Amino acid sequence: MKKLTLEYSYLKNHVRNDEMEQMLCFAKNAAQTLQEESGAGNDFLGWQNLPQNYDKKEFERIKQVAKKINSHSEYLITIGIGGSYLGAKAVIEALKNPFAKSKTTVIFAGNSISGVYLAQLVEFIKEKEFSINVISKSGTTTEPAIAFRILREVLESRYGKEEAKNRIFVTTDAKRGALKKLADEEGYETFVIADNIGGRYSVLTAVGLLPIAVEGFDIDRLMQGAFDCMEEIKNTTGTENICQSYAAIRNILYNKGKNIELLVSYEPNLQSFSEWYKQLFGESEGKDGKGIFPASVIFSTDLHSMGQYIQDGRRMLFETVLRIEKPGVDIEIPYMEDDIDGINYISGKTVDLINQKALEATAMAHVKGNVPNLLINLPELNEYYIGYLMYFFEKACAISGYLLVVNPFNQPGVEEYKKNMFHLLGKEGY
Ligand code: PA5
Repeated sequence: MKKLTLEYSYLKNHVRNDEMEQMLCFAKNAAQTLQEESGAGNDFLGWQNLPQNYDKKEFERIKQVAKKINSHSEYLITIGIGGSYLGAKAVIEALKNPFAKSKTTVIFAGNSISGVYLAQLVEFIKEKEFSINVISKSGTTTEPAIAFRILREVLESRYGKEEAKNRIFVTTDAKRGALKKLADEEGYETFVIADNIGGRYSVLTAVGLLPIAVEGFDIDRLMQGAFDCMEEIKNTTGTENICQSYAAIRNILYNKGKNIELLVSYEPNLQSFSEWYKQLFGESEGKDGKGIFPASVIFSTDLHSMGQYIQDGRRMLFETVLRIEKPGVDIEIPYMEDDIDGINYISGKTVDLINQKALEATAMAHVKGNVPNLLINLPELNEYYIGYLMYFFEKACAISGYLLVVNPFNQPGVEEYKKNMFHLLGKEGY
């Protein structure tokens, strides 16, 4: 099986060998601290061995429930915010043909407070066959609570309270929270988010797995990819270790004033994957006045909007380019006798080949413009490799957070706006 690799050729002028060696020593120590579970936030490390130590019974139940949902629902409304939806959305959109119909299409809700979105969704869904998967670890988050209340009412008035029990699935804490209480009272089927797994590290739990399985993707392959990444990392050090190396490079560049990382993809279906990456790194590292600001672009699309800034604007960026080596499908550019558009010189070539050339040309131009580029080569985009890639980013993020000397597993800043909002809305106690 081919592996994920890092390519350093576009970093030469920015990362010296001695700097890399030194930072790799720190990264090795950080990785050890993680493995020994002796660092900050060590009560949130359940994701580390998850590809091996997951609840096998629940995993099988997820597959059965996905089949059940497929048998009676055209749509599954997945309600959740932050870590409770970004992973599933990332995987589904990365792997799905956007023009093909699934047995059951997953629609996301409860990730904003838009009345417009909810009103339009209710209008759309009320005559359709649908189910709901509400996901909230705390069970008290306002956005999903509002969406669930509204959509549950629609579902119950369409199917009745009894049938609603066959169509509402709750993913939440094993014991605590308003959602758990409601699920127990109403008799909804539940899935568990373990205490020691934070939202942004939860894609390989029922949080991500149920919606992904409902869309028809192979969650065994997803877990296998994550497992193989976990094993590979355990058995390597130095530049051989992709997580330690990536974390080291990010921190070397950060220490040189490159404090914005752009995750660059050349496939539009990776847009939501970038959102998942941004949450993972932003929420893990952005604290105590520190942290690399994670941003993202899709090329070549954004070369026609952000390209100018990246090439020529303030020099505080570095790019992490996600290259998919082999496309799932491809298409050839046809030859045309008249050649009015002047592109016969590339006829007979595939569109992906042109995309790869765009990647090389852009990396060369940006490096010349003093934007360091690190390439992540992913052999293919399928369940196996996306599982691999997600585990890679999770582990690298944790190591990188320790290198920054922050706790990568808490998110105290997320609470601030909530308190103000509750105060403004007149909630008791605020
Ligand atoms: O990563 C996190 O911890 C957060 O983004 C949460 O996932 C998000 O705030 C939603 O929380 P909950 O699942 O408790 O509703």
